[in-house]
Amino acid sequence: MIIDLNGINFAYNESGKGTPLLFIHGFPLNRHLWSSQVDHFSKWFRTIVIDLRGHGESQAVPGPYSIEMLATDCLSLLDALDIQTPVILCGLSMGGYISLAFLKKFPSRVGGLILAATRANPDSLEGRQNRDKAIVLAAQQGPTAIALSMLPNMFAPKTHQFSPSLVNDLRRMMSATSEQGIIGALHGIKNRADSTALLPLIHIPTLIIHGAEDQLIPLSVANEMQAAIPGSTLSVIPRAGHLLNLEQPHLFNQALENFLLPNYFAR
Ligand code: MLT
Repeated sequence: MIIDLNGINFAYNESGKGTPLLFIHGFPLNRHLWSSQVDHFSKWFRTIVIDLRGHGESQAVPGPYSIEMLATDCLSLLDALDIQTPVILCGLSMGGYISLAFLKKFPSRVGGLILAATRANPDSLEGRQNRDKAIVLAAQQGPTAIALSMLPNMFAPKTHQFSPSLVNDLRRMMSATSEQGIIGALHGIKNRADSTALLPLIHIPTLIIHGAEDQLIPLSVANEMQAAIPGSTLSVIPRAGHLLNLEQPHLFNQALENFLLPNYFAR
C-alpha cells in the first residue's frame, strides 16, 4: 500500500487484528526484511511494516534524515491508520535507534519494545569517520557499492558459507535502496543522539534480541542494554549474525512469541 504522509509517499503493509505491532527495518533495507515475522505474528497482532523514507518503495527525498524524523514518520503512519493506542515497536539495528527515539518523543504511544541487533549509544569518532567515507562511496559509486561493502558483516560466517541465496537476496535488497535514502540515513545514523540515559527509565515490557555472531554490534552491547533496562529480557540467537531474523527466522519468531504472548494475552 502507498500512503501520503505529510507530502511524501510511503509504502507500508498491515495485516491481522489486535494490539498493533510495528516493525521498523534497519539500514539500508526495507519492509520485506520482516516477511517471516508478518506471516507468523498476524495471527495474534495487527502487524504493520513500513518502508522508511528513501528505502524500498517509499519516496526518496533529499536528506539528511534525522533518526527523530524517521520516528516521526512512523508516528504519522500510525496516526493515518487511526492507531492511537500504544503499539509494540520492534526495531532492528537502525530500526532500534528509531524505536528508542520514538519512545523518547512519544512515550504514551508505546506499550512494548523489541530491540533487535541494536544499541543505545552513539557512534564513536572512528565510527563517524566511517560514515563520512560511506557517504562519499554512496555519492561516487552508488547503492551497489554500499551493499557490497556492508554485505560481509551482515550475516554470521556460516550463513555466508551455507546460504548463498539469502546472501544474494540481501545484496539485492540493499542495492535497491535509493542513493538519497542511503545518504540521508547515513547522516542520521552518524549524528544520532545518545539514548543510554533513557534505558533505566524504560518501564514497559522490553525484549532485547541479538545474534550470537553479530559482527556489526557485539553481543556485549546487548548484555549492557539488558542490564540497564529494568525487567528486560535478553534472548541470544545462536548461529545468527546481524540480520538474525533472516538467518534464524524460527528461533527469532519463537523468542518473540515467548515474549509477546504472555505479556499481551495473559494479563
Ligand atoms: C543497520 O543494520 O541498520 C545498520 O547496520 C546500522 C548501523 O550501521 O549503525
